[in-house]
Amino acid sequence: MAAAPLRLAPSILGADFARLGEEVRALDEAGADWIHLDVMDGHFVPNISFGPDVVKALRPLTTKTFDVHLMIAPADAYLAAFAAAGADVITVHAEAGPHLHRSLQAIRALGKRAGVALNPGTPAAVVEPVLDLVDVVLVMSVNPGFGGQAFIPSVCETIRRVGAMAAGRPIAIEVDGGITVETAPEAVRAGASVLVAGSAALKGGAACYAANIAALRGAAEAASGAWA
Ligand code: DX5
Ligand code: ZN
Repeated sequence: MAAAPLRLAPSILGADFARLGEEVRALDEAGADWIHLDVMDGHFVPNISFGPDVVKALRPLTTKTFDVHLMIAPADAYLAAFAAAGADVITVHAEAGPHLHRSLQAIRALGKRAGVALNPGTPAAVVEPVLDLVDVVLVMSVNPGFGGQAFIPSVCETIRRVGAMAAGRPIAIEVDGGITVETAPEAVRAGASVLVAGSAALKGGAACYAANIAALRGAAEAASGAWA
């Protein structure tokens, strides 16, 4: 089977929040495929980031896919606001509520691509009953809440299991957390095709974004040849 196209999704969590619009423009020009937007509520995860008004304010600045990662519970009450704000992919955590199927139905009903995120401690099997409603499975390779954490290698087994379950379906497997030029190859060999990178993409400031993204892409592409 042909490998899914690789996509680099820099996370703006590591950006200069005082200059967020310029940061998004810089990431676009530096070669980001998707822009990853980490929404945190201080409840589902122990940190607070930003909400739909910030997504809306950034939307006119780029035509790149807005990949909105909701680390919030409950999520359902906010899905319409993120859709209206211009999200393209809306991802909810499987652990964030008792009604994952309903959340995914709601995202699809809003005309958006639906994603399910799995924490490192969550088994891959959780996504199996909802695969018909899923466009993206986001496998967390750190415990969500903060950028700059170390990649947890055991999640590669989760990526492999999700890949086996999703085989033949138009589902992208995304990996998020601790992705660097060292860890990206491992995640890609396991089957990830969308790589979120916060620290590794944004280190050094805007002047470095293009080189950072190119390095990550090169490391991922070199490993994608190893796909079965
Ligand atoms: C963590 C977020 C990630 C984070 C990644 O909770 O979901 O998207 O920004 O940052 P790094 O790449 O630094 O681990
Ligand atoms: Zn994220």
